[in-house]
Amino acid sequence: MPINDSNSNRYYLTTPIYYVNARPHLGHAYSTIVCDAIARRKRALGIDTWFLTGTDEHGQKIERSAQLAGRTPMEFATAISAEFRGLWDQLGLTYDDFIRTTEERHKRGVQKLFAALRDRGFIYKGSYTGQYCVSDEAYVDGPPGTYCPDCGRLTETVSEENYFFKLSAFERKLLEFYEANPGFMGPDSTRREVISFVRGGLKDLSVSRTSFSWGIPVPGDEKHVVYVWLDALANYITALGYGSDDPADQARFAKFWPADLHLIGKEISRFHCVYWPAFLMAAGIPVPRSVRANGWLLFDQGKMSKSKGNIVRAETVQAVLGADALRYFLLREIPFGQDGSFSFDALVQRYNGDLANGYGNLVSRVVNMVHKYFGGVLPEVGVDTPAETKLRESAIHAIANFAPAFDELNFAEALKNLWLLVAEVDGYLTANAPWKRPADRSESDHALHQARVLATAAEAIRIITALVYPILPDSAGKVWRQLGQGEIADAAKNAFLTEVAWGGLKAGTRFGEPAPLFPRAEKDAVERMQNLEEKNVGTAVDAVSGNADAADAASAVTSAPQAPQSALGVSPVPAPPESAAAPERATASPSVVLVQGQLAGTVPHSPAVHAQLEGQLTEHTAAPVDSGTPVATVQVHQVAAELASSRLNTTPVAAPAGAPLQPAEPTAEPAQHITIDDFTKVELRVAQILVAERIPKADKLLRLEVDLGYEKRQILAGIAQYYEPEKLIGRKIVIVANLAPRKMRGLESNGMLLAASLQDGAPVLAGFLEEVPLGARLK
Ligand code: MSP
Repeated sequence: MPINDSNSNRYYLTTPIYYVNARPHLGHAYSTIVCDAIARRKRALGIDTWFLTGTDEHGQKIERSAQLAGRTPMEFATAISAEFRGLWDQLGLTYDDFIRTTEERHKRGVQKLFAALRDRGFIYKGSYTGQYCVSDEAYVDGPPGTYCPDCGRLTETVSEENYFFKLSAFERKLLEFYEANPGFMGPDSTRREVISFVRGGLKDLSVSRTSFSWGIPVPGDEKHVVYVWLDALANYITALGYGSDDPADQARFAKFWPADLHLIGKEISRFHCVYWPAFLMAAGIPVPRSVRANGWLLFDQGKMSKSKGNIVRAETVQAVLGADALRYFLLREIPFGQDGSFSFDALVQRYNGDLANGYGNLVSRVVNMVHKYFGGVLPEVGVDTPAETKLRESAIHAIANFAPAFDELNFAEALKNLWLLVAEVDGYLTANAPWKRPADRSESDHALHQARVLATAAEAIRIITALVYPILPDSAGKVWRQLGQGEIADAAKNAFLTEVAWGGLKAGTRFGEPAPLFPRAEKDAVERMQNLEEKNVGTAVDAVSGNADAADAASAVTSAPQAPQSALGVSPVPAPPESAAAPERATASPSVVLVQGQLAGTVPHSPAVHAQLEGQLTEHTAAPVDSGTPVATVQVHQVAAELASSRLNTTPVAAPAGAPLQPAEPTAEPAQHITIDDFTKVELRVAQILVAERIPKADKLLRLEVDLGYEKRQILAGIAQYYEPEKLIGRKIVIVANLAPRKMRGLESNGMLLAASLQDGAPVLAGFLEEVPLGARLK
């Protein structure tokens, strides 16, 4: 969906505010760098831009981390907040404001918002007994002993008198709002999940806590502190001046609110796309224009996070390759909205390929030749030949394509296309070899040839440099000077991106001195970065947050293993007992299973069981389970089990084919049947296989691209041992279309195939005898 655009000459964008229990790592830097690139482009387009970032400092999690560190929460928060801010400065990020939720301006605004919600009748007092995830600071449905569906940690039971926000009153309003504003949230996976979460029913939300005190007191009832997410989300307005009496603050708020873009990590979309607009609607404040979720940066197969211990610091990459290299890698390598793997090898490869040997080398060749052949003064281009005309057309094309891709946050696409122009200019230089005079060309003709080729190449470089400036600000600045264009920051202030057009570089321009841009990274670059990371463990910086690690480690001891993540926290429900029992009742008759590259036959289990099975996950999840239970029951059972798997309070794992499954804990009332409502939650649709291919090193998985008529999807299915990929192409199958996306082997799977499972475990794909249109729903 295209991003909602205010079409006005002001633009307000925000990052999430970062928890201060963890030191900043590349995952945090990613969100902030993306915002910085957007902010730079907007400013250079002459748009009055306000870029906000900051730190989220209240809540039980921070209070506990501080306690463990033997510091007051304020001391603790101040130290880590300074680390975030210091790093953003070191990376040259151009935020306009950095808010800390412990600041007075924020406290004042949150209290005003709380009072407004209460005065307008949307807050009431009640009591809450239920589960709470301290790590996510989120309420979780389920009985004591429930694990958080988002982070997998064990929840705590809280029993408190609370203030409640009437979230239930916003179910219909939100759905209408999403419908009327298709560009409000994205990517599509986020949009789908948010909508189905709201459609699933909204319960009133507890918005105060009494069991700890590190927070903002509820106005008029100070034994309560405001729920940390209401506190945190409000930063987007309090930073602008909401709640202040100062006319300058009020003017800023009036000018910049509503926000044009909240850029967030996908795991916090429920808070931003459901709670936040509901709070604002209730308070009578306009809602933001758009929320966009970035995917996760993965390292060593998992989400980069402190508690997993798999973090890489931005400083490390900056020290070895420079901040621009990091920016380029993150934006070029990861299609925005999807998860992306970070590795030092991939980073160095991209750096050498695209920056050192690509753009950097091109600039250096051209600038050096202008110095060598023309004393550093750009010659007249002269008369174009077809080669120049072609290059000029490509540059015009690149200009036209860059903005739409960038503005839709398709940075990878924008850069990929721009680098086609880099390659084309490179090829043009090589083909026209201005350094070599053929024997049949006179000296004077050669001078004209050199002038034409170098002036044309330099102009193309100028265009590439202007467009890439928001992503490579330092390097673009150096090139700008070498092209004799002065300071690029000044050009940006003068809205130079509004007039990027062929022909801006004038003959007679004196070039600056050539200067290295991206020195080639040598073999040891990876090792140097690895060493820096290793050395950093246990330094003074860690002394502050290392204790925070202890807090996380303490909760990790009681943690359940990570449940497969869905971007939204969905309410956990008890697993249907059949999910474990069915396979034990194995009979000879075939059954119907759902086959995805993940969980065919799931079973709730204890952390210990998970530990045993973890190593088998990737391969065995692909294997369809022969449950052998009669068709009708198993079909329903498997559907329910899958539905529950995204909601289970324990982590589902696949059973290796033939291995005994652990029985589920008996529940009080075995749910033998599901209702029609339960069934209709599962969206079964007809799809056609367009592409089917094997996945390297995954002998059970196939990667499929299927057409649903209204959209195309990628699905990973554990059927590689039973179907030749080529034979699947064109086949019409049945898929579960509303299953939360899952990642396997770095690839996203968006749905699940339906197949009967034979006695030996072989799947037989469900299909039709009659002609059926794509996308038709099975009811
Ligand atoms: N404090 C809340 C946000 C409140 S916003 C009103 C929070 N903080 S956080 O520090 O845990 O995470 C903040 C953001 O950091 C994530 O939403 C995401 O944007 C970014 N990331 C942290 N780790 C990340 C990765 N491994 N990969 C990509 N982004 C990640 O949630």
